[in-house]
Amino acid sequence: MIRFGLKKHRAVPHTQAATLRGLLGQRPIVLVGLMGCGKSSVGRRLAGALNLAFADTDHEIEKAAGQTIPEIFAEHGETYFREGERKVIARLLTDGPQVLATGGGAYMDAITRDNIASSAVSVWLKATLPILLERALRRDNRPLLQTDDPEAVMRDLMEKRYPVYAHADVTVESRNVSHETVVGDIIDALLGHLQAERAP
Ligand code: S3P
Repeated sequence: MIRFGLKKHRAVPHTQAATLRGLLGQRPIVLVGLMGCGKSSVGRRLAGALNLAFADTDHEIEKAAGQTIPEIFAEHGETYFREGERKVIARLLTDGPQVLATGGGAYMDAITRDNIASSAVSVWLKATLPILLERALRRDNRPLLQTDDPEAVMRDLMEKRYPVYAHADVTVESRNVSHETVVGDIIDALLGHLQAERAP
C-alpha cells in the first residue's frame, strides 16, 4: 500500500519528536537567519514533524497591519516595520510550544533577542551567499533586496548579522539538500542542546 501521508515526515521517529517536545516544555522553537535561508519552508516542515503549530512572523505582521511587507516599508518605513515586528514577536513568544519563523532582521533587535533567549530555543539556519541569493531573489517581496546590487546588500547583511545570529542556541547549515534532511539536522541539534541543558 502506498501511504503518501507519511512520506513528508518519515525521517523523524515519533519517540524522538515526543522527547523533544518534552524537553521544550512551554518554549517555542524560533528560527533565525538571513532572507532565503529556508526559515519558513523548513520551519513549516519542522512543525509538522514535531506535531507543533507553525507561525511566520512576517505573515503575522502583514495580518496585523492589513498590508504586505513591501507596502509597510513603502508607506511607513523600516523603523515602523521593526517596531511592529518586535511587538508581534513578543506576543507570539507567549503562545507556548510552536515553531516560529522570524524575518531576517528580527534577531538583530536586542529586545527581541533577549525575549527569545528567555522564553524560547533558537536555531540559526546558516547558508552561503550563493544559496541565499538564489533563493531570496526568486520572489520580489523583500524590500531590502530591491536595489541594483542585491549581492552587495546580502554580503553586507551577512557581515553585520552573522556574528549576531551566532548567539542562537544552535546553528544548522541550510544547504542544497532536502528539507527533510535539514529538519532532521535541526532535531538532532536541538536534542543535543536541550539534553545538555538538563545535564547536572
Ligand atoms: C528582512 C527579512 C524579511 C522581512 C523584511 C526584512 C530583513 O523576512 O522581514 O523584508 O531585514 O532581513 P525573510 O527573512 O523571511 O525574508
